[in-house]
Amino acid sequence: MSSKDQNVLMCTFGKEVHEGLTSFPKYLSSKFFYDELGDKLFQKIMDLPEYYLTNAEYDIFQLHKTNILKSFDASKKGFDLIELGAGDGKKTKVLLKELLKESYPVTYHPIDISKHAIDGLVDNLASELSELQVQGQIGEYFEVLDRLKHISDRKKVIMVLGSNIGNLLHPRAIQFLKKLNSVMNTDDEVFIGFDQKKHPQKVLDAYNDKTGVTAAFNKNILTRINRELGGNFDLDAFIHWEVYDPESGTAKSYLVSTKKQTVDIDCLELQVQFEAWESIHTEISQKYDDDTVKWLAEESGFVITDAFSDKDKYYKNYVFKKSE
Ligand code: AVI
Repeated sequence: MSSKDQNVLMCTFGKEVHEGLTSFPKYLSSKFFYDELGDKLFQKIMDLPEYYLTNAEYDIFQLHKTNILKSFDASKKGFDLIELGAGDGKKTKVLLKELLKESYPVTYHPIDISKHAIDGLVDNLASELSELQVQGQIGEYFEVLDRLKHISDRKKVIMVLGSNIGNLLHPRAIQFLKKLNSVMNTDDEVFIGFDQKKHPQKVLDAYNDKTGVTAAFNKNILTRINRELGGNFDLDAFIHWEVYDPESGTAKSYLVSTKKQTVDIDCLELQVQFEAWESIHTEISQKYDDDTVKWLAEESGFVITDAFSDKDKYYKNYVFKKSE
């Protein structure tokens, strides 16, 4: 990332932190969880026994890889496989290996906001799957989507895994899907993961693990404010709190101040007052059912042409095509 790009990100961070911490109720965006430490903590989350999402999606790839690839490119004409928020690519590798084995002509474009993630993935693929054509890109989804328009004339398959869409409220999810739709041609497809509604305790456990990794991940946003914006948050004076509403399917993460306190953020010339037990809302992790996914797809100009589920039906990957 150029120093100009870093400055722009830094300004966005400062501006949004200011906005969120001077609002009532207070909020901060979960997109700021992800720096070098945040990436590592998220990797740890994905390895937690409670965080079923990763294994469920991995199982879907293992179980359905042949049919998934058929749904992308039955006649093996070739396509660009674009992955938004690629992370370490562990799940995708199942598919990539199959693509190579079955000689699909493919270029893989992993995209992630994290430079660490992309550099690591590209290096790893160069050694593990050296025959694969890979072009990694760093950036935010919306900004990268504009660049995608000109990638090539081939069919595009855009993968959004990990139920990443679940971190967006429905109106923003629709905005995101519409934007995807606008960079797609008629034959292009979206392959997208939606974590499903299930026993509420299962969801709560996934976001409130016993070892406290998710709590550290949530608090990393405060660590970042301290380091990057000259803040003096006392991390021990906040607790991680998770709630899940089975009606809406929304899991919400908060940081709750355990006492009345004042926090200074020097770079923003801001003093933030917290009442005892006042919260900062930091993340939503939406859970879905088929009707909700169908509604989101239709609102964004898509039809669902296929869907693949794990054996426990915890999670589903859907194939979206543009509606006529
Ligand atoms: C990246 N995203 C889909 C994760 C989720 O499940 O909402 C982030 C996460 N937050 C806490 N644990 C995992």
